[in-house]
Amino acid sequence: MAMTRRVLVAGNWKMNGLRADGLALARDVAAATRQLSGDVDLLIFPPATLLAEVGTAIAGSTVALGAQDCAADARGAFTGDLSAAMLADAGCEFVILGHSERRQIHDETSELVARKVMAAQDCNLSTIVCVGETVAERDGGRALAVVGEQIDLSIPQLCNASTLVVAYEPVWAIGTGRTPTIGEIEEVHAFLRDRLRDRFADAGGKIQLLYGGSVKPENAHEILAAGNVDGALVGGASLNADDFLAIAGACD
Ligand code: PGA
Repeated sequence: MAMTRRVLVAGNWKMNGLRADGLALARDVAAATRQLSGDVDLLIFPPATLLAEVGTAIAGSTVALGAQDCAADARGAFTGDLSAAMLADAGCEFVILGHSERRQIHDETSELVARKVMAAQDCNLSTIVCVGETVAERDGGRALAVVGEQIDLSIPQLCNASTLVVAYEPVWAIGTGRTPTIGEIEEVHAFLRDRLRDRFADAGGKIQLLYGGSVKPENAHEILAAGNVDGALVGGASLNADDFLAIAGACD
């Protein structure tokens, strides 16, 4: 774990959580953060319907609020979409962009993700940009080429590196219980670090690199101790406060 970058543990609730469960989960996470080391930042990404109320529930704690996606455009006739300004207005400080479920289910391209990053930064939202290869791409020896192209195209030309976080999430590890070896994670993270340094010079060395895909309390310590891993993006395990907090506690 890099000594110079803070550790970020982010919980992506995806399309889970009605009011009662979501608010209870948020309150439990917020209440427990007092026991965590001061070097860990916690983020939760509830569904959009709960953002404002969860924001109220975690107010006064160190947990920060984020949204799971935003529109590329600022306003207008985009039925069903939510602009970055709306999310900031609802209390968000972060937004996840380019998650593989958006890339696959909603056919989002890296070019669209880059437009969304600009829209988010224009509204002072920090972004977690996700990249990751499919199992066929990894088996074909193309994992680095794929994430390299995704990172190049998903980060816009005028990106502010100081509000950018990158998450490496192999598609085949998400929700499957399978994870890459520590060596494989370190290989991709070192590759991403070099790419970000090439692009942003010193600022590229400060961008936090998260690993995501089947992070659990059982494997969190090993993953978070890996080289160039500055935190975790957690899906399934973030729906249980004890598991999510155990992952955050594994940073110590
Ligand atoms: P998972 O999801 O932890 O359930 O594998 C991670 C993610 O999609 O962000």
